[in-house]
Amino acid sequence: MLGVVVLISGSGSNLRALLDATNNPLYPVRILAVGADQSCSGLEHAELFGIPTFVISPENFGSRELWANTLLETVQRFQPDLTVLAGFMKILPHGFVRALSPKLINTHPSLLPLFPGAHGVRDALAAGALETGVTIHIVDEGVDTGPQLAQAKLAILPDETEHELHERIKVIERELLVNVVKDIAEHRIKLGTEN
Ligand code: GAR
Repeated sequence: MLGVVVLISGSGSNLRALLDATNNPLYPVRILAVGADQSCSGLEHAELFGIPTFVISPENFGSRELWANTLLETVQRFQPDLTVLAGFMKILPHGFVRALSPKLINTHPSLLPLFPGAHGVRDALAAGALETGVTIHIVDEGVDTGPQLAQAKLAILPDETEHELHERIKVIERELLVNVVKDIAEHRIKLGTEN
């Protein structure tokens, strides 16, 4: 069983897909805890599944580093084999990344290296891209620059809004994330920490 901590900031539909997957006893993953940087509706999915949650907001700390240290200590208390950023919208300081990477992965709604950052969907539309998608990658010290583990693509439809496109991306994103985490658990994807 791969023990996973998931960090979120919003509606948590990717988290929900992982939780739903764990309903299948053959899915080799256990969600140990779900954390967020703000109170958000996604935490309700964890509560429904009886999974511990925590909220650690930067506003309650004197600096980003103090916030991230507390977040790190809280994550580490659950001794995860893997930490998943699933719509976690804060950039994490280098110390946090160094402590967990490469057992720290992120899902991002674009075909990286195209359109990194907080507005991957909006930026793809603004650039007039004809296709976009999702990338799951190991988190390194850059913004959405770490080694890629998997991508999935879709065509952008004429006159599609950012919300419509993001919802379509999230459909393929949830499936990809569930599969990537399974592949990590079953050692088909190696994160560079094992032979
Ligand atoms: C997902 O599309 C994820 O890729 C994106 O936030 C969404 C969260 O959706 N993350 C980023 O943009 C990070 N730069 P969810 O809360 O429904 O899972």
